[in-house]
Amino acid sequence: MSGYLPEDFVDEVRASNDIVSVISEYVRLEHKGKDYFGLCPFHKEKTPSFSVVPAKQIFYCFGCGKGGNVINFVMQVENLDYPQAIRLLAERARLTVPEGESKEEIEKYHLKEELLKLNKEAAKFFYKQLMKEESHNARAYVKSRSISMETLKKFGLGYSSENWDDLFKYIKGTGYSDLLIEKSGLFLNKKSGGYVDRFRNRLMFPIFDLRGNVIAFGGRAINGESPKYMNSPETPVYSKGRNLYALNVAKNSGHSNIVVVEGYMDVISLHQNGIINTVASLGTALTESQARLLRKYAEDVIISYDADTAGQAATVRGLGILSDAGCNVKVLTVPQGKDPDDFIKNKGKDAFLKLIDDSLTLVEYKIRLLKKQISTDNVEGKISFLSKVSQLLSLIDSSVEREIYIRKISREYDISEESLFQEVFKRINKENVPKKSIKPISAISGVNSKDKDRRTEKKNLYLEILLIAFLATDNSVYHKNKKQISLDFFEDDEIKKIAEYLFSRLDEGKDALPVDLMNFFGDNSGEFARIVREECNCDDNTKAVLDILRKIEQSQLESRQQKILDLLSNKPEISEGDVEKLKRELQTIILKMRNL
Ligand code: CTP
Ligand code: MN
Repeated sequence: MSGYLPEDFVDEVRASNDIVSVISEYVRLEHKGKDYFGLCPFHKEKTPSFSVVPAKQIFYCFGCGKGGNVINFVMQVENLDYPQAIRLLAERARLTVPEGESKEEIEKYHLKEELLKLNKEAAKFFYKQLMKEESHNARAYVKSRSISMETLKKFGLGYSSENWDDLFKYIKGTGYSDLLIEKSGLFLNKKSGGYVDRFRNRLMFPIFDLRGNVIAFGGRAINGESPKYMNSPETPVYSKGRNLYALNVAKNSGHSNIVVVEGYMDVISLHQNGIINTVASLGTALTESQARLLRKYAEDVIISYDADTAGQAATVRGLGILSDAGCNVKVLTVPQGKDPDDFIKNKGKDAFLKLIDDSLTLVEYKIRLLKKQISTDNVEGKISFLSKVSQLLSLIDSSVEREIYIRKISREYDISEESLFQEVFKRINKENVPKKSIKPISAISGVNSKDKDRRTEKKNLYLEILLIAFLATDNSVYHKNKKQISLDFFEDDEIKKIAEYLFSRLDEGKDALPVDLMNFFGDNSGEFARIVREECNCDDNTKAVLDILRKIEQSQLESRQQKILDLLSNKPEISEGDVEKLKRELQTIILKMRNL
């Protein structure tokens, strides 16, 4: 693969790019002992399992198993092939790539380099144009949009004059070839041959890539001409769907979230007001490639699109694409159909920060849309709303998350928690829940596993969860059989804590429904939900609980019996006295088991 690139050079590139400093550009790394840890850029995670070992110049993720050296990292994170990754790293270390590739490759590379230069030249030209005395109209427009001089410079804004070919003459005069002029997208062919400027009498917004190269332009009409915005076409250096406006700034904001808005002006206004973790998708639907970019630089991505129907549809689509790419997504709605630019100008920074805080998750957003569509004034509407909401909630994988929603939504929309809970769980087991998220512990019995201890342990865990599920489903059983129920039935530490909580609540005279306990089950919450749904519908709950208690006791006795037998047969070193004691205990166990 590296045929075109000499090994020595590759070694030099590797040696000149310390893995920690390269990866730090993508991942927030924390020093821990000799290594660094951070959130893996290759899979979604909340606690860092991605490690970088500087001494060995390698990375490895304990979560997804990806690993390698700095080149592997850049290839994967930037989605590049091997030579492209080397080139990027060489550029980073300011090394000159030896020309050893195919003629075509070299030509393509040079074309891109030259186009970037041409664009930069054009951006400077537009800026100077804007500063000229005669461009007072354009500057008045800038002022009318409340763009400060500082912001104007920061975003490199400029002006394309009313004349037909100011830019063309300048670029041609600077010595750029016709090929470059043609490919730059900045000019249009004249019927009579030759070129005219694509952008005329517009406020010019250079579009930057992540490294700050000017890759394209957007131009806004300043006198209400149509179209309002005009943009560069796709060129060898610009692909609309692969870039996000202002990501070069937003990626260094130090925030873990990025807000995606629609337009140039929204971003500029927000940045001017100090909210720099914002980018624009420039009025088009978000693409997968943009979603991957966002995922790289943000944990949470907040979409803020127009609240109109088209905007709503774009929002739902965008959210889907983002969450598929592994982003946590949220929706920010600007009140009264304003865009972020209008809003922040009128209400200020803090008000916008509050909107960010109040942004809704995808589920909440969809429920809000449902509420708008369905009138819940009558019974039919209420039922239909409840059913659709339950359907949505049943699609959530994490039971903890589901429970949080159930609580929140029951409060917000005045539905009883219990009925929402039941509706949701009715749907879960029917079809939706991915099989992997439910591991029925009960199904373990009968599996011909060699590890009998482990099997017993799992069976006991199941019985303990079952006991809690029944007691939570029918609190009266606890009160009626209090004497027989104790914490001794719980051997699993986690489950015991839940039991403790449950018992103390019940002892205080409060009630405790399964939904109240859902949070505490962690990894076992799926199992808990399944049991609540599937197994807790007996005619006689007391009988069921007593039966479970008996089974737990039996299982505990069996384990102890097994342990004693093992000791007696495998441990010749135990004393006569101890052997006697164990034998007596064994007798008692056998008697107890007979009486169960
Ligand atoms: N857009 C475009 N072509 C258009 C209209 C819009 O490319 N004819 C893109 C631009 O990137 C624009 C974004 O869509 O920034 C959002 O459009 P819109 O909401 O109409 O514009 P604003 O950003 O609000 O711009 P302004 O405030 O200048 O009207
Ligand atoms: Mn606007």
